Amino acid sequence: MAIDPDKLNEFLGRAIVDFGATFHAALVVIGEKLGLYKALAEAGPSTPAELAKRTSTDERYVREWLAAQAAGGYVTYDREGGRYSLSEEQAFTLADENSPAYLPGAFLVATAALKAQDKIADAFRSGKGVGWHEHDPDLFRGTERFFRPNYAAHLVSSWIPSLEGVKEKLERGARVADVGCGFGSSTILMAQAYPKSSLVGFDYHGPSIEAARAAAERAGLSGRVKFEVAKAKDYPGKDYDLVAFFDCLHDMGDPEGAAAHVRETLSSNGTWMIVEPFANDRIEDNLNPVGRAFYSASTLICTPASKSQEVGLALGAQAGEKRLRDVVTRGGFSRFRRAAETPFNLVFEARP
Ligand SMILES: C[S@@+](CC[C@H](N)C(=O)[O-])C[C@H]1O[C@@H](n2cnc3c(N)ncnc32)[C@H](O)[C@@H]1O
Repeated sequence: MAIDPDKLNEFLGRAIVDFGATFHAALVVIGEKLGLYKALAEAGPSTPAELAKRTSTDERYVREWLAAQAAGGYVTYDREGGRYSLSEEQAFTLADENSPAYLPGAFLVATAALKAQDKIADAFRSGKGVGWHEHDPDLFRGTERFFRPNYAAHLVSSWIPSLEGVKEKLERGARVADVGCGFGSSTILMAQAYPKSSLVGFDYHGPSIEAARAAAERAGLSGRVKFEVAKAKDYPGKDYDLVAFFDCLHDMGDPEGAAAHVRETLSSNGTWMIVEPFANDRIEDNLNPVGRAFYSASTLICTPASKSQEVGLALGAQAGEKRLRDVVTRGGFSRFRRAAETPFNLVFEARP
């Protein structure tokens, strides 16, 4: 068998980038935790000693961290002055929590998920599941940090207006359930945008519901937004005008059962909004960097989460529109359409 040296070098080049990126993920998490990116953005060009002083950290560690960041293109190095800085784009994505492209949360999700690798390897052998709640708590916190900027950028400005008549109902005052709400960032964003509506977030994971309640209190919304521990197949209430599922339908063991419960709890003219990771229907159309990230996260998080619950359908995070339509229509919905999309999400509207 003849090895083509060019192809070999090309593949090794890709692998060394990935090898470095795997270590680098932890450095992004550390940089966020210690405020290194923010301090660098505020201070402008800095030596390692200056950044260490500003962040009350050790100069030797900061020097190594900065060199790694510069080698990866996450900070900019000026060889003349020996100083490091963040370009506008680097600061926008690494130092500004309100930016729609804020990245550190994604790395917190990834490093948290890696901690489950032994459990997941065992699950490959046994075929059993690993529940969302069995992961390192950083996964729950990281998910909120990763997804909230995306919801802040799209939910109120484009996703809700893409649903037929929903914006008007929410403005007049509607009943909303946010199922699988996690830390409740989507619930809170909707509550802030539509003060006449009443919202309740449900999730089976108790610690996430506690975090969501605390976030609502911090936002001054504790009277208007409720958070309760409940599963997608048996959450309470009837006649909701809008039921929303943000990035969680595919994590559920029985998404068809969940769809049937949504159908029962919606008003006859209500809307089910389903936000899922972006995916095409055919595997060959998902073999790209976004698909790689989602298939990998799905192997470590979503597929085992679904397999840990009853039925264990395991849609995976790259189910695609066709498969999702199938699940939703089996649950009793007659109308289903793609209402909006971004490079990372598909937004579906299901009606009774
Ligand atoms: C990827 S997280 C998304 C959280 C939140 N919706 C967001 O977008 O930030 C998936 C969520 O689904 C929840 N979940 C999984 N299975 C569930 C079920 N059967 N019933 C209710 N919640 C469930 C998990 O606890 C977790 O909070």
